[in-house]
Amino acid sequence: MTVSPKFRLGVLGSGKGSNFVAIAEVIAAGQVPAEVALVLSDVESAGILEQAKQRGLPHRFIAPGKFRTKLDEDAERAYVAALQEAKVDLIVLAGFMRVLKGDFLRAFEGRIVNIHPSLLPSFPGLEAWKQALDHGVKFTGCTVHYVDAGVDSGAIIGQQTVPVLDNDTPETLHARIHAAEHELYPKCVAAIARGEISVQGRRVRSRDSAR
Ligand code: GAR
Repeated sequence: MTVSPKFRLGVLGSGKGSNFVAIAEVIAAGQVPAEVALVLSDVESAGILEQAKQRGLPHRFIAPGKFRTKLDEDAERAYVAALQEAKVDLIVLAGFMRVLKGDFLRAFEGRIVNIHPSLLPSFPGLEAWKQALDHGVKFTGCTVHYVDAGVDSGAIIGQQTVPVLDNDTPETLHARIHAAEHELYPKCVAAIARGEISVQGRRVRSRDSAR
């Protein structure tokens, strides 16, 4: 009997890694036909690396270089090489706080996904939960999308709404969005790993229309 190789994930994050943990847990529970091939961070002390270590999953810090919001050329090459060596099928951005540019995007075209803490196209960019609160919207949420050359602008794979309550602070709203992210991201990654997602231009369709 031949065992088909599992769908390999490369996860990139800069923060505490709660979305990575949500994905790793559904994989460990056997609910997603995928494996975490490599976790990379641009922040040496990031919680996401500690979470990977605790689970015995391959992880590395790769220094981002001299820029604040993107990888420099050497760093970009090092990230691409590490992910190619790990033979990843999909790159999962889980709180990776740098914009990915040309050579990286070309190396993994159509195979990079991100989670953003708003209902895109509303509130792209930083602190999206705070932008939503300041704008006064009554609902916000989170979006999983493919990554293109723009900022939070790629085709939308899945979204989940959360209400904005009258007494919300940025912290309480962000916590509610985070909880929604932990439901949505594993579902979207699972659908991609199972081959249930098809893309035509900006329209992303799923065989399971619940997303
Ligand atoms: C998440 O809320 C994610 O949506 C956000 O960073 C957080 C990471 O949390 N990403 C962005 O804002 C990207 N523009 P985590 O490290 O606990 O998964």
